Amino acid sequence: MAEPPAVVITGASRGLGLASAAHLYRRGWRVVAAMRSPDSGLVALRATAGAAAEDSRLIPVQLDLTDAASVEAAAKAIEAAVGPPRALVHNAGISAAGTVEETPIDLWQRMFATHVFGPVLLTKALLPAMRAAGQGRIVMISSQGGVRGMPEIAAYSAAKGALERWAESLASEVAPFGLGVTVLVAGTFDTDIITDAGTSDHRDLSGPYAALHGKVDRRGRAAMRLARPPEQFAAALAGALEDRSPFARHAVGPDARMLMVANRLLSGKALHRVTRLALGLPRSGALRAPE
Ligand SMILES: NC(=O)c1ccc[n+]([C@@H]2O[C@H](COP(=O)([O-])OP(=O)(O)OC[C@H]3O[C@@H](n4cnc5c(N)ncnc54)[C@H](OP(=O)(O)O)[C@@H]3O)[C@@H](O)[C@H]2O)c1
Repeated sequence: MAEPPAVVITGASRGLGLASAAHLYRRGWRVVAAMRSPDSGLVALRATAGAAAEDSRLIPVQLDLTDAASVEAAAKAIEAAVGPPRALVHNAGISAAGTVEETPIDLWQRMFATHVFGPVLLTKALLPAMRAAGQGRIVMISSQGGVRGMPEIAAYSAAKGALERWAESLASEVAPFGLGVTVLVAGTFDTDIITDAGTSDHRDLSGPYAALHGKVDRRGRAAMRLARPPEQFAAALAGALEDRSPFARHAVGPDARMLMVANRLLSGKALHRVTRLALGLPRSGALRAPE
């Protein structure tokens, strides 16, 4: 009997990755769960998926996206375990709060290593086999911050924007080989990344940007109350793996859908104003030093 198709999902230890890995397993996929700590991660994944310890459809692979050697080793382990995967989901991510002026450059480097350089390296390593197979889908998990640069999360926004751009480039390149690319723009889901504990915080709450921090913090906490369960995201990802067009981009969740519509309809200037009003930011010039 033919093996079920294999999906690789990064960041499968927690949050959206864990929920998605479990959901895809239950739908019959062979799931390669790429994680920084596969020993503890696999225990959590088996429990969430309801899988037996000996079930060979759950395959843990060690992966730290900020470490090139780990990425290369993970690609080899993936190919050894399942050959060319039918789907590769770039899900792992980190978040950080702070203005451009406040966030240290090593945070920017870690942000791009996690969301861009590591995923690009993993994709490059797996592409020859996926091209040869002549079918497959690569899915990038983006965010509202990747649709438009959002204040106080510039490093995250920039990295997610870059992720979306290389996804578009890649889609045009690999379509002739029978491969497709999907970008999923996630709205707000109830995982660690939206909590204080799951985000690195570089804000100076008594510094020059204090007025922005107070407003954005209050609106952000209000939005968190509307966060949806990760299982809803997992179902949308399962649907995206069925995409057949060379390139697709979907919003997941009503907030992401609204932003994508606004981004299509409004000018950059108008969207800047809408963002300012929605976040309650001080008006232009309001914090200018007195003469
Ligand atoms: N939740 C939301 O509202 C939301 C909204 C928009 C977009 N997203 C995106 O959705 C994706 C998943 O986020 P989440 O909400 O599930 O966050 P999460 O609960 O914080 O999980 C993040 C995952 O990424 C992994 N990870 C972080 N750095 C890594 C690295 N260097 N190498 C390998 N894995 C790494 C973590 O592994 P460890 O367990 O080892 O730390 C964890 O599995 C991210 O790309 C995020 O930007 C989430």
